[in-house]
Amino acid sequence: MLTARNVTKNYSNLPVLKGVDISVSKGEIVAIVGSSGAGKSTLLHILGTLDAPTMGQIEINGVATSTLYGKKLADFRNRHIGFIFQFHHLLPEFSALENVCIPGFIAGTKKSAVRERAIFLLEVLGLRERLEHRPKELSGGEQQRVAVARALINNPDVIMADEPTGNLDSHNARELNQLFVILQVLFVDDILLLFVFLVHHHLLYEQELMVE
Ligand SMILES: Nc1ncnc2c1ncn2[C@@H]1O[C@H](COP(=O)(O)OP(=O)(O)O)[C@@H](O)[C@H]1O
Ligand SMILES: [Mg+2]
Repeated sequence: MLTARNVTKNYSNLPVLKGVDISVSKGEIVAIVGSSGAGKSTLLHILGTLDAPTMGQIEINGVATSTLYGKKLADFRNRHIGFIFQFHHLLPEFSALENVCIPGFIAGTKKSAVRERAIFLLEVLGLRERLEHRPKELSGGEQQRVAVARALINNPDVIMADEPTGNLDSHNARELNQLFVILQVLFVDDILLLFVFLVHHHLLYEQELMVE
């Protein structure tokens, strides 16, 4: 469902990715683990069509993403890929509910259906009482959960999370990791989760999975 072959990335003369092959199916959770500067974000951005490889091919759902440009590329990303970054990148002037709805409105889905799914996702993520809060009125952990709901709004095939707990304290990081376990149960078989973790955060995540 997601395959990459011989993905190579050089920044000028600096080789960062040297021929990465990866194949991930629906329902799988894959962690890309490495120390700082290893090239994890570079790989995730390339797999997520946010950056182009120097060489190599990427296919998502049978679509060679290098063939997509401009509006088609933005449209593909909007429908098929959900991103969760280390920093939430929520829009400060909009409420939690609006932030989650925006990618759904961009996709052209019926507004009432988008709102309904957004409320459902925010409830699953424990934010039922926070729908109308602006990002600055939410804690770091809550902001990141809004970002998770936003990543799920268009029912993407792939979720890409780049150190999603990297900016949280250990309590909030643990809570978010437990939510990922719940989401995995809810959406299993339906979605592919690609995580990037620093080595020590990855160990934390494995422990959470074992606790469940
Ligand atoms: N736009 C860029 N231009 C030049 N070098 C870059 C750029 N982005 C990342 N790098 C370099 O590529 C390497 C991998 O970066 P990155 O993928 O962000 O690592 P990670 O996410 O594993 O910490 C680093 O050495 C970084 O300095
Ligand atoms: Mg990184």
